[in-house]
Amino acid sequence: MSAVLELKVFAPKHFLDIKDFTYAELRELLVEAAQFKRNRGRSKKPLAGKTLALIFEKPSTRTRVSFEVAMRELGGEVIVLSPRDMQIGRGETIADTAQVLSRYVHGIMLRTDSAAKLHELAAHAGIPIINGLTERSHPCQIMADIFTLEEHRGPIAGQMVAWVGDGNNVAHSWIEAAARFAFPLRLACPAGYAPHPEVLAWAAAEGADVTVVRDPAEAVAGAACVVTDTWISMSDAQDEAAARLAAFAPYQVTAGLVARAAPDAIFMHCLPAHRGEEVSAEVIDGPASVVFDEAENRLHAQKAILAWALG
Ligand code: CP
Ligand code: NVA
Repeated sequence: MSAVLELKVFAPKHFLDIKDFTYAELRELLVEAAQFKRNRGRSKKPLAGKTLALIFEKPSTRTRVSFEVAMRELGGEVIVLSPRDMQIGRGETIADTAQVLSRYVHGIMLRTDSAAKLHELAAHAGIPIINGLTERSHPCQIMADIFTLEEHRGPIAGQMVAWVGDGNNVAHSWIEAAARFAFPLRLACPAGYAPHPEVLAWAAAEGADVTVVRDPAEAVAGAACVVTDTWISMSDAQDEAAARLAAFAPYQVTAGLVARAAPDAIFMHCLPAHRGEEVSAEVIDGPASVVFDEAENRLHAQKAILAWALG
């Protein structure tokens, strides 16, 4: 076997970003996710004997619980780690940590505020690495989001999605998804809070229909889905909070704003939400909101990712 082929055959199946996959690969994961959802409690245990390490440098409710339950329901086990309890917290390198953990466990999910750290871990690990959120992206969330949108509205291709608020990590993964799943994405962001220029440039080079505007009403006009997220992410400096709240104040997703979308539009939010900031209680607790289906679908989407990566 040639060295190149050997590398390809034995390369770990990382899940780092939506853009690393073809449409066909992402679609296959969503088909698997739907099967896991339909067969919950009756599915086989494809990950029996496998252990996943979950490393959280930042807090989590959904990611932590959905990955842990997903592994258990697939027959595997988890070890939940915090850098506080690990030697990386005292300066052991990511490279050494990657190589050591690769001798013990079968995969690692990392939540960190450094995408560079995630990529360094992946470069040195002999096992699959899964992105559980960085300051740059949140791909597992967006797989669950596409799944949820399609459950409620049918195939996503061609359906207009409106993002209102911060051009943050979750927005970046939506942009990558717009390229891969071929749907138009309109983002309304205040000055200074647009998505990262590299992500927009990538989308343009891919021929994606992604537009950034200032006016939330323009972004949501006729949209099938309105999405928002917190105005202050975990990686944002706390001393920026007041400036952010002021800049984003005109960007709250209100019932009046959602009324400009398609008549049967849905509202999505990755959670945790801040009622009265990025979304009104009327919207998130109202009939258009599918946020708890979205949270549930993290479980099913991640089962598909885990079975693909570790199976
Ligand atoms: N949406 C999401 O990733 O939630 P957690 O921060 O609770 O994991
Ligand atoms: N943008 C948010 C998402 C939380 C799941 C953050 O990074 O804090």
